[in-house]
Amino acid sequence: MSESLILETAGATSTLCFGSASALLGQLIAGREYIAISDQNVASLYPEYFDAQRSIILPPGEAAKTLQQVEMAYERLYALGCDRSTLLLGVGGGTVSDFTGFVAATYLRGLSCGFVPTTLLAQLDAAVGGKNGINLGTAKNMIGTIRQPEFVIIDSHFLASLPALEFTSGLGELLKYALLEGGTLFEATQEYLQAAAGRSAAGLAEDAVAANRLSALIRAAVAVKVRIVGNDEFERGSRKFLNLGHTLGHAIELLEGIPHGLAVIKGLLFAINFSERYAGLDTVAAARCRQLLTASGQDLQLRADPEKVAGLLLHDKKMGRNKLDFICLSAVGRPVIRPTAPEEILDLLQRSR
Ligand code: GLY
Repeated sequence: MSESLILETAGATSTLCFGSASALLGQLIAGREYIAISDQNVASLYPEYFDAQRSIILPPGEAAKTLQQVEMAYERLYALGCDRSTLLLGVGGGTVSDFTGFVAATYLRGLSCGFVPTTLLAQLDAAVGGKNGINLGTAKNMIGTIRQPEFVIIDSHFLASLPALEFTSGLGELLKYALLEGGTLFEATQEYLQAAAGRSAAGLAEDAVAANRLSALIRAAVAVKVRIVGNDEFERGSRKFLNLGHTLGHAIELLEGIPHGLAVIKGLLFAINFSERYAGLDTVAAARCRQLLTASGQDLQLRADPEKVAGLLLHDKKMGRNKLDFICLSAVGRPVIRPTAPEEILDLLQRSR
């Protein structure tokens, strides 16, 4: 088998493979019955992965992550006579892996599942680590479990078909890992972004050198996530580090109506400013971190009203006793958890305007 990583948790072993999805799927499914789950966009781009009789095709985006769609999927699995041996294969972006993982965790008290993430964001984050979920109205991921997929296949060829905005959005997660890990991942990410500046996502995907560099970065970032989740699958401590830039990012995403990864980049900038003030991140390190974010070429300016951002933080599902576990950096590659009141965040947001 081509290159792989193993995520070992108390209850499961998940294999993360890097290479050609079409070649790896045959080996990993090994003749078992499976049902493919995807969305309309991915299914029309890659019809070779879907047998109309044994697929569930969802509407694109967050519209898939509803209880109604889950019920529809359960009914289809029932009608198709699926049993405990059926594997669910999610092929698509983060909404598809979130949905497939949730249906697999709950139908017949648990089916195996595997993922073929087709977006940069899903390859780096959503499909790795076992979090799944659906939305409750506008409240994202309120219903879900943590349960590992049997396998994840990370094939960078899918990135060539990504719309430019979707590609840049994925870079937000890559920046997060670079800041969390520091060292060579930080430097290699910065070099990649500098070389990629001003080039289109399609151009980068067609350039073999750039594509290989990105594949190496994805592997390194996924290895960071595998290590963190392997140590704390249920987010009691160090898995919270993966929320760097996300506490504010989620609020910005909702208020500014921008893609997740672009909101995370703004959230990362705020986390750096906050870390400099409250977590001992020194000025030189903070400036290096800001340079990395600037190299992404993305808008770093907060456009949402700070009061509204802080208001949304009060409803954050991770808030306990009026404080959030805000993720800071005490140095590049050294994340720390700082219990923080939304008012402190509001104060710094207003000062930085
Ligand atoms: N997306 C953050 C995590 O998987 O914990």
